[in-house]
Parts: sequence; structure tokens; C-alpha cells
Amino acid sequence: MLTLGIETSCDETSAAVVEDGREILSNVVSSQVALHRDFGGVVPELAARSHVERLPAVVDAALETAGRGLDRIDLIAVTRGPGLVGALLAGVGFARALAWERGLPIVGVSHLDGHLHSAFLESPGVRLPLLVLIASGGHTELVLMDDNGEYRLLGRTLDDAAGEAFDKVARMLGLGYPGGPEIDRVAAGVSVIDAQKAFPLPRIHVDGLDFSFSGLKTAVRYGLDRAAGRRAGQRLDPGAGAMLDPGFVALAAASFQHRAVEHLRDQFQAAAATAVPAARTLALVGGVAMNSSLRAAVAAAAERVMGRRDALVLPGPTLCTDNAAMIAAAGHALHARGGGRSLAVDPSLRWGAT
Ligand code: KG4
Ligand code: ZN
Repeated sequence: MLTLGIETSCDETSAAVVEDGREILSNVVSSQVALHRDFGGVVPELAARSHVERLPAVVDAALETAGRGLDRIDLIAVTRGPGLVGALLAGVGFARALAWERGLPIVGVSHLDGHLHSAFLESPGVRLPLLVLIASGGHTELVLMDDNGEYRLLGRTLDDAAGEAFDKVARMLGLGYPGGPEIDRVAAGVSVIDAQKAFPLPRIHVDGLDFSFSGLKTAVRYGLDRAAGRRAGQRLDPGAGAMLDPGFVALAAASFQHRAVEHLRDQFQAAAATAVPAARTLALVGGVAMNSSLRAAVAAAAERVMGRRDALVLPGPTLCTDNAAMIAAAGHALHARGGGRSLAVDPSLRWGAT
């Protein structure tokens, strides 16, 4: 069964063809990062317009790369939330028109279900129950998928999402957008001991399996103020990080990354050790799963708890960031269960909602 996935929830326009919910025949992603960079973040209006412009060519490219025409497609899966309302409307409108014109069934998919299903793509060894840490720009959630494919939310962020914290701290440090990859880049090669000495930040503690990043973000803010005070005797304005010395920025970025990664790893490891029913496979997904230090920390934690490294699924870069293959995979599963009938755009949609 061939599913055409369409994803436009934020700043990537993407279309993909996936066979039987597992095998990727194509996964075309047109990133709008260059369009939004000058604004330091995603401009919703620009994103929506750009999706409308790009969708026809992106869908054509996905079909062409897959070597399958629209006449071979059995199902259309489209993200209907969460995300930016105008961006979601662009994707859902396009997908509905296509489905209507071709008389194809269509399912509305939660972007979160999509991220979760990225664990199943290119990973034939996934066994249920599956424990997934989703760390993206908008969400930080620990979810257990049981033997029946039912989700159980084990923990979630109480304030900022992990990616949001990376993006905000990067802005304070005068680094570019999106901030996560920039922090990852400048922190590479910096010793954590040196970083914590030069820019000490407290370890994050949250009871249970929830997450919190706002305290860490505030600690970075105070640390920068102190540093500015030592230098110029005045408070550093937000965004004035561009004036900071690059060596100092690298130390601050590495110190922040260390604490953020440690917190994600701690909660993930605790969930893996205590989840009932016990997880047989672990997965780290979402844009922040691209972080090199987080990948290493989570791989080590998986080995500690599960006794073997191959119990962990770490999707590659295209599957971590927003893409339509994961939407097609989630849509395929939803359709098989008779769900996904609603196509109502919902910017705050949650898990598996139909
Ligand atoms: O999953 P995603 O592409 O979009 C959302 O659904 O939000 O995640 C984007 C987020 C951004 O906050 C970005 O800064 C973060 O993922 N990110 C990273 C890295 N690459 C992307 N964060 C930390 N380290 C990275 N290497
Ligand atoms: Zn996402």
C-alpha cells in the first residue's frame, strides 16, 4: 500500500511516498530556513505563503523520485496539527484537493504521531513496547507505545520545549537561527569541565518524568549579565550576545548544552528503567535528536539500562527534522485502525487524536 505524505506544519514543505508504512520510496524536504533567517525565527505569514507556492513542485518531486504516479497512490496523509495555523491550512487544503480530484482516501495526522513514527522508518528491528523521547522545537515528551499500539504519555515539559530552549539561548549568545545546530556546532570540541568552570550552570532537577528548561534559560541570562557586568559594568540586553567574544560564547554554549542534554538523558534513562510495561525498544526523535552530544548521551544510557546498544533507534538527520515520510508512516497506521477521519486544522492538536 502506497501512502503520499504531506507535511507543512512549520517551516519545511515536504512530501513523501512510503510503502506499507515502513519503506521510504521518496522523502522530499524543501526547507524555508533561508527565508526566515533574517527575521531570527519563523514568520507565520511568510511560511504559509511559501508552502502554497512550493507544494505542487515538492509533491511532483516526491512522486517522480518514487517512480510512482498519482494513479498508484492508495492513501494521502496530511499533518493537521499541531503547528502554525496558516501553514497547516496550506497543506490540508492542497491534500484535500488532491484527494478529491483523484477519489483517494485521506487521513489527518498529528505531527507528534509523525515524529513518533519516524522510529519505524528504516529500523526493521523496532519491537513494542516502544519508549520514545520526542525532542523538537515545540515539544518535549516521553511516550510509551504498548503492544497494542496505544500511547501512554509518561512525561512532558512543564515550560519550554528542548528545541525552544536551544533557540532562545542561541539568540542570547548572538548565534544564528535555528539555534540548536549553531549551539551544537560552536560547542563541539569544548571540554565540559572548562565550560562549567567558565560558565557554571546548575543541574536541572524535576520530580517524576517531566522536563523543565526555563530555569536553565534564566541561569544563562544571569550568567551573561554577570559576564557583561564584569566587562562593561552594565546589563547585557537580549540579543547583544553578538558582541561577546567567540571563545566565551563557545564555553557558554557548551555549558548550556551539557545541562540540557544531561536533563533529557536523565529523564529518558529514568523512564526506560521504570516504564510499565517495560520497553523493548527505545527511540530518540525530533529535531533536537540531531544534537551530537544528546545522541551520544542517550546511546550510553540505553546501553546501561537495556544492556545492549541496538535497543536504541536513532533516526538519521532527514527523519529527525520535519519531513513527510514520518507523516505517511503515521497516516498508514492510523488508517489501518480506521482513524484519522478528521481533517480539521488544529494548531494545538495532541497525540493520536482522530
Ligand atoms: O522537529 P523539528 O524539525 O521541528 C519541530 O517540530 O519543532 O525541530 C526543530 C528544533 C529547533 O528548535 C532546532 O533548533 C532543533 O530542533 N535542533 C537542534 C539541532 N538541530 C535541530 N537542537 C540541538 N542540536 C541540534 N543539532
Ligand atoms: Zn516537528
